[in-house]
Amino acid sequence: MGEQGARKAVGERRFLAPFRGEVLDVPPIWLMRQAGRYLPEYRATRAEAGDFLKLCYTPKLAAEVTLQPIRRYGFDAAILFSDILVVPDALGQSVRFAEGEGPRLEPIRSVDELARLSLAGTEAKFALVAETVARLRQDLPQETALIGFCGAPWTVATYMVQGQGSVDQAEARLWAYRDPKGFQALIDVLVAASIDYLDRQVQAGADCLMIFDTWAGSLPDDEFDRWVVAPTRAIRETLRERHPDVPVIGFPRGAGATAVWYVSETGVDGIGCDTATPPFVMSEAFEEEDVVVQGNLDPLLLVAGGARLDERVDEILDLMDGKRFIFNLGHGIVPQTPPENVAQLVARVRGRG
Ligand code: CP3
Repeated sequence: MGEQGARKAVGERRFLAPFRGEVLDVPPIWLMRQAGRYLPEYRATRAEAGDFLKLCYTPKLAAEVTLQPIRRYGFDAAILFSDILVVPDALGQSVRFAEGEGPRLEPIRSVDELARLSLAGTEAKFALVAETVARLRQDLPQETALIGFCGAPWTVATYMVQGQGSVDQAEARLWAYRDPKGFQALIDVLVAASIDYLDRQVQAGADCLMIFDTWAGSLPDDEFDRWVVAPTRAIRETLRERHPDVPVIGFPRGAGATAVWYVSETGVDGIGCDTATPPFVMSEAFEEEDVVVQGNLDPLLLVAGGARLDERVDEILDLMDGKRFIFNLGHGIVPQTPPENVAQLVARVRGRG
């Protein structure tokens, strides 16, 4: 295909229309964790790979699991199959995913321990992820957008410092309070690595980027500004210089009304709203911002299914009617989700046409 043909095809990706200022009758739809354990074909490929990180670093298999939900449901966007913890792993802090236990990392809790990380060492692993993106751009239908992503520095740091998931992110918060200079050094490494990681994904063919800040809601005002807003702004600004046309969606989960401040201060083009975001915030609070709103169906409603699922989908569509909106969940699909409920959801959203 000639360059003009390629550009035309990009222009037809309806997922990108809201970022160009268009309001669609039927919003684009994709779902966080749309590739994952709720799909039997994912579980089969996952078993073939054996190890979760091996799945992330094997372009053929990572591309295959990215495509699985597109084949089933025809979502408007695919999201690269990888994980936010690929960045610490590539930096040299070995990451393990213990079966049924979630991630395990050798914790980093002081400036001295930062010596274990190497920006120069990320090359080989980031190249494998870029190869997955390049494969996907070849294999995806032309009309399907491809979203690249990384974890936000704050959220990635919470895992690096705690050594695992936690309910309160206590170790990272304590380090940030006790030794902000030292903690800043960790955040700076993550900003630099995230920029490089995202830049490579765009160069390989990603149409849009998303920054997952799952634990943004655990920090109060000044800390939120320093550890959530500032690093995200730094990433957003550098990517804008390099790729002015590639939109970035921020997902400051748990930020509540502060998400409006987050949008204006970081310059993100899209805002992912979590399940608890009140309707008036979704529909009105971002109106002064030049931003596309994405969200926010409760993933457990997708497990429950039935008439309540349809009702809630209609409520969200009515609320966001006439706005630049992308339909999504408020957090990732959970493993016990019946795949037929996902089909029901997609049909309900598209039935509005
Ligand atoms: O389909 C997609 O959304 C793309 C792939 C993707 C995964 N993780 C695959 C994955 C994306 C975008 C992520 C992001 C991610 N990873 C986040 C931010 C979003 C969120 O959910 O809050 C976070 C915090 C992580 C870290 C992580 N990865 C944890 C805590 C776990 C274990 C818990 C769990 O859900 O299993 C993972 C593992 C993981 N990442 C799985 C998948 C499909 C399940 C692993 C498996 O197959 O065994």
